Amino acid sequence: MKEMSVLAPATSANVGPGYDIFAMTLQEPCDEIRVSLNDSGKVSIEAEGDAQNIPLDPNDNVAGLAVLELLKRKKIKKGVHIRIIKNMISGGGLGTTGASAGGCIFALDKLLKLNLSDNEKVDLARMGEIASGGSPHADNVAAALLGGFILVKSYYPIDVLRLEMPEFPLVLAVIKKSQRTTRGFITYEIGQEKLKEQMALCSRVIHAVHTKDIKEFGKAISVDHIAEPVRSAAIPEYQDVKRAVLRAGAYGFQISGGGSSVISVCDPELIDDVAAIMEKGFAGNENFVKVIKTRTSNLGVRISE
Ligand code: HSE
Repeated sequence: MKEMSVLAPATSANVGPGYDIFAMTLQEPCDEIRVSLNDSGKVSIEAEGDAQNIPLDPNDNVAGLAVLELLKRKKIKKGVHIRIIKNMISGGGLGTTGASAGGCIFALDKLLKLNLSDNEKVDLARMGEIASGGSPHADNVAAALLGGFILVKSYYPIDVLRLEMPEFPLVLAVIKKSQRTTRGFITYEIGQEKLKEQMALCSRVIHAVHTKDIKEFGKAISVDHIAEPVRSAAIPEYQDVKRAVLRAGAYGFQISGGGSSVISVCDPELIDDVAAIMEKGFAGNENFVKVIKTRTSNLGVRISE
């Protein structure tokens, strides 16, 4: 086989307090990635859909960088053509970069019969993230590749744990970032009290996933002392919408991944109300795109029919 099409799902990284170590997979939206082998010895990329800002030079493209790394590490001389069909809004915190990189590594593993372990795939795919945020974080790519809830247990070496994720209803307000990445403004110097609370919150998130407790999950993801203060400051309506959504009965509200999209978890009966509050609350934000109603998912990248 020389060609493969895969579906690569959106993901929401950090899941509240787990900056760079937690991520979860979403049912919708998904990007489609077509990967084919050729004899050019080069990596080439084309993109369609919401693809205006996607760099096509493989050295600047998340999927391109991941594929170049795979070819280098495995000493493979083949050429690879990547066609990215974007259904997700890029630059919004939905893990679209991780989906592209993860989708390509998944497909190449199969096309080249490499039989890579999950950790090897994650380790290769995360190299693509250097093109987007400057750092090879593994949370989004692991969730896109493996589905479910991801805990990055170790970065040196990469070791990820995939937990089965309960199916929780989610509402996303898709908001594009006004700048490429906010990672440079985030500080770990949060002080002893906040650090202790942050560690407790991470434990609560994991416990809530294990016990399938949506209320506890929502509460635990709604506080983050590391990324939320920086990223919420770039969204003028954030605090008002968060208050309104939680007052309406949703269990949780937080920035999704690198922002600026936001995510809320709630009971199924509340989905339409929460969506309406978000629509109204963000209507005046020039970077607001749309509201998406979806669910958490245990399905990662898969071969498309
Ligand atoms: N953990 C990453 C971040 C996810 O917060 O920047 C976005 O790529």
